[in-house]
Amino acid sequence: MNEQPINQNNSAEVKQKRMFSAIQPSGNLTLGNYLGAIKNWRILQDEYDSIFSVADLHALTVRQNPAELRKNTLGMAASLIACGIDAKKHPLFIQSHVAEHAELSWILSCFTMFGELSRMTQFKDKSKKNADNINAGLFTYPSLMAADILLYNTEVVPVGEDQRQHVELARDIAIRFNSIYGDVFNVPESFIPTYGARVKSLAEPTKKMSKSDDNQNAYVLILDDKDTVMRKFKRAVTDSEAEIVFREGKDGINNLLTIMSAFTGKSIAELEAEFAGKGYGDFKMAVGETVADSLAPIRERYDELMKDKAYLEECIKEGAERASYIACRVLSKVYKKVGLLPRIR
Ligand code: TYM
Repeated sequence: MNEQPINQNNSAEVKQKRMFSAIQPSGNLTLGNYLGAIKNWRILQDEYDSIFSVADLHALTVRQNPAELRKNTLGMAASLIACGIDAKKHPLFIQSHVAEHAELSWILSCFTMFGELSRMTQFKDKSKKNADNINAGLFTYPSLMAADILLYNTEVVPVGEDQRQHVELARDIAIRFNSIYGDVFNVPESFIPTYGARVKSLAEPTKKMSKSDDNQNAYVLILDDKDTVMRKFKRAVTDSEAEIVFREGKDGINNLLTIMSAFTGKSIAELEAEFAGKGYGDFKMAVGETVADSLAPIRERYDELMKDKAYLEECIKEGAERASYIACRVLSKVYKKVGLLPRIR
């Protein structure tokens, strides 16, 4: 795997930039989540002063089964650690455990425009999908996400392409707030990978790979066993040609080449040369093997972690304490700036 950090400015004298990112606890991680975001969290975690969160408050924008949500939240923390996030070094916490997220979200929603929220493509997509539950939280979701980011003076936000618009809105909110009250927030940048920023469905490769797809063959889960991974890649939709090249209109092959590139670190051109003259069947099996072999250690580690609930709880407890320390200070600065009367203690 291509795991070279961007630069090596790690010495103690150089103040590291702050990196923050989060993921919703929507069951298992998909290959899309992994390649678009989590793999970069792992690669970049030591290069930055990193903080990670499981965004359980965001998950409430769609109806949840309470017991499932609790299980998925702890399971997502385990998945992140299994993927290589060092939760002892970098705070990994559950969003609802740090109350400042909800508090700053309210303040920022007063600095977010109705028109801006109406333009969010994810709001439009999710409204279509959940036509019977277009709640206010679904609409103001980007203000909460801005609060997540801005609470930590974040400079870099590693996400997949689908979150770019939300990070841009967080920047606009920060700039607007700063223009009124002075330099309160850092203005964050998104970090979007070259390969894997938009992993496509294996069944309909014009669409994003998503866990909420009704067709289970459309997505690969990080915890899928080898047989399942191989089966899903074997069924991956391609095209009626027989050429393994990255070209407009070859969405299925482009997606497989991108996945292979993200896992091996080889460029698309190298992969095209390697598979020149080979059939689609062989290529799909090669991608399946590479993915399954890379995921096997993650699955093993996840199984171990899920047997050690005490360790997971210790990680998220410490993570929330460390995150709260920073979040409290930023929030009290914001409260002061906007003119809220300090609480009498
Ligand atoms: P979420 O939970 O939907 O996804 C987590 C991360 O996975 C990326 N991703 C993908 N990348 C490439 N291809 C795909 N098919 C794919 N599917 C998902 C997402 O871009 C994301 O980076 N609102 C966020 C969570 C969040 C957040 C934050 C992120 C809450 N607060 C603050 C950054 C900063 C979300 O729902 O991501």
